[in-house]
Parts: sequence; C-alpha cells; structure tokens
Amino acid sequence: MTLSGKVMVTGGAGYIGSHAVLALLDAGYRVVVIDNLVTGFEWAVDRRADFVNIAVEDAGVRDVIRDHDVQAIMHFAGSVVVPESVQNPLKYYRNNTAATRALIESAAENGVKHFIFSSTAATYGNPTKVPITENDPQLPINPYGMSKLMTEAMLRDVAAAHPINYGALRYFNVAGADPQQRSGQSTVGATHLIKIAVEAATGKRAAVGVFGTDFATRDGTGVRDYIHVSDLADAHVAALAKLIEAPSDSFTFNCGYGRGFSVLEVLDAVDRVTNMTIERRIEGRRAGDPAELVADNSAILAALDWTPKRAELDGIVRDALAWERKLAELGK
Ligand code: UFG
Repeated sequence: MTLSGKVMVTGGAGYIGSHAVLALLDAGYRVVVIDNLVTGFEWAVDRRADFVNIAVEDAGVRDVIRDHDVQAIMHFAGSVVVPESVQNPLKYYRNNTAATRALIESAAENGVKHFIFSSTAATYGNPTKVPITENDPQLPINPYGMSKLMTEAMLRDVAAAHPINYGALRYFNVAGADPQQRSGQSTVGATHLIKIAVEAATGKRAAVGVFGTDFATRDGTGVRDYIHVSDLADAHVAALAKLIEAPSDSFTFNCGYGRGFSVLEVLDAVDRVTNMTIERRIEGRRAGDPAELVADNSAILAALDWTPKRAELDGIVRDALAWERKLAELGK
C-alpha cells in the first residue's frame, strides 16, 4: 500500500516522529517533515526525507501541502509534559488543541485524505479498570490529556463533514530507540522512567527516584505498559495502510502490549542489561500518577496488519541504553 504523493510528518525531528519517519521511508513512502525545532533536532531527521522548519499552525503549511503533494499527515508535534500542562494549561491548549485545529483546516482545505493523530492514555485519566479498552470513559485529570481529547473530538467532527479519514492512536508509555541506532530519545531534561534510568546507568545522574511505593500494585510502585518506539512507529505505518485501503473509515486504537511492569521491575531490567546496580532513592508519590495503566490492545491487533516485535522489556532497555551511550559519544 502506498501513495502517489508524500506523507507529511509534523514533529518529525522529535522522539516518536523521527522513528515514524524511518518506518515510513523503510516501507517505501516519500516523506516531508515539518518541525519548528523547539524540542526536536534537525539531525534526527533521516536524510531521505525533505525538511521544512515551520510551525504546524503557520499559514505556510498550506504551501508545503501543495508543493509536496501531501496526501496524508502524521501529526506528532505538540507539548508533552504533564506537570507543565498543569502549570501552564494555555500553552497546551495553544500548542496541542489550537495548533492542531489550524493544521486540520490546512489539511481539509487542501485535499489531504488521511490524518493520523498522536493521542494518549492520558485521555483516560484515572482508569476505573485495567486493562483499558478504547470505549472506557475518557476523563482526563490534566490539561495535557484534555488538550488531546479535544483534538480527538475535532477529528471526529471533521471526518464526518469532509472527505478525510483519520486514525487516533492512544499511546501508553513509549520507550526504547531504533535498534539500528539511527534515532532515539534525545530530549533534554527528560522525565520518563526508562530514559532517566539509562541516564543513571551512563553516569549522567547519580540515582533514580522511585515515586511512591504505596500504590495498590504487586510491589507498591507504579505499573505501566511500556511500548518500544519502533513497534509504535510500525503501528503508524499499518494505520496509514488501513486509512488508504478504507477511505471512508476512521478508527481509534490503544497502542500498548497489554502487559505492565512496575518501576522496580524496570530498574531490575536496567540492572540486568548493564550488569550494574542503579541506586534507587525511594521518594514520595508524584502528583497525578495513577497506580496502573495497561492497554487492552485487542482492537488494534484485530484491525491492523501489525504484530509487535519488541515487547521484551530487556530489549527495550538495551536499545534505550545503546542510544544513551551514542548520545554521550556524540557529546549530546
Ligand atoms: N517514575 C519514577 N521515577 C522517575 C520517573 C518516573 O518512579 O524518575 C515512575 C512514575 O511515577 C510512573 C512510572 O515511573 O509510575 C512511569 O512514569 P513516566 O514519567 O515514565 O511516564 P508516565 O506514565 O507518567 O507518562 C506517560 C506518558 C505521558 C502520558 C502519561 C499518561 O509519557 O505522555 O503516561 O498518564 F500523558
């Protein structure tokens, strides 16, 4: 399945977007990346893709769509730090909701046929049960989740009114790096557990804080469904193929493996992979952390031509660690 025109990847210089660019190129698609490089890096964009430094809400995006014959958009650009969204909600409603509204308008008015949106498990808020299915209540507990939920609603309405279909993919905890080390998580000041743990393993930090040991989980620490970024990127390519194959159908899927690991289990995996013992510092709970987030992924497995290949936790850690070492070598 392919397209005569290009796929435009917003945020293609960022962590997940740069991996989606690799997966699209490897699958034979032609790609144009737009990114304003606020958090992304131009060096993270594969050279086979075209690159335009522009914000998604800029009116010039219409020219990019026309000049590059863009037929599909994968939209990764946005702000992603949950606590920051609580401090500065309007930044999230601007960068995520309002900017995406402008992008969808540029798409709909310039003949883009397919739209894939990075949504999040944060739209579920505190789940009433795990694993979480797509039809469970969406009651976000922070502006980040709400900003993404509002975009899901816009897409539903726009797809009903215009000749465009969409796939909303609700990510669980994305981790790891391209197994060929062409990209990885390079974010400065990252807050995500596996990134922090491999930074500790490479000497960038002294220890890892364990945020809460009194959750109702098997060892008292938070449980998450960690998904390898390359499997997630492949899910986007499979989602695009589906949108092309069935142009009047749209869909929303959880992206996870359907199994969870606790914070201590993740740190044990890092110890196994590095053959070291990372120092754990037991700290209090972080505000707003749910005990357990695990995806029911039966819908995506049934609907898309996608088979997860990298669910093994040690492999996810190994790839994240290899990228962290490469960043250190490059002085980044
Ligand atoms: N954690 C620690 N120490 C750390 C960092 C994290 O113990 O230094 C714990 C957290 O408390 C949590 C787990 O590790 O239990 C995972 O935390 P992350 O920060 O890695 O990820 P989150 O689950 O908080 O965030 C993820 C996504 C967000 C999304 C959110 C939905 O990264 O984009 O899930 O709740 F919004």
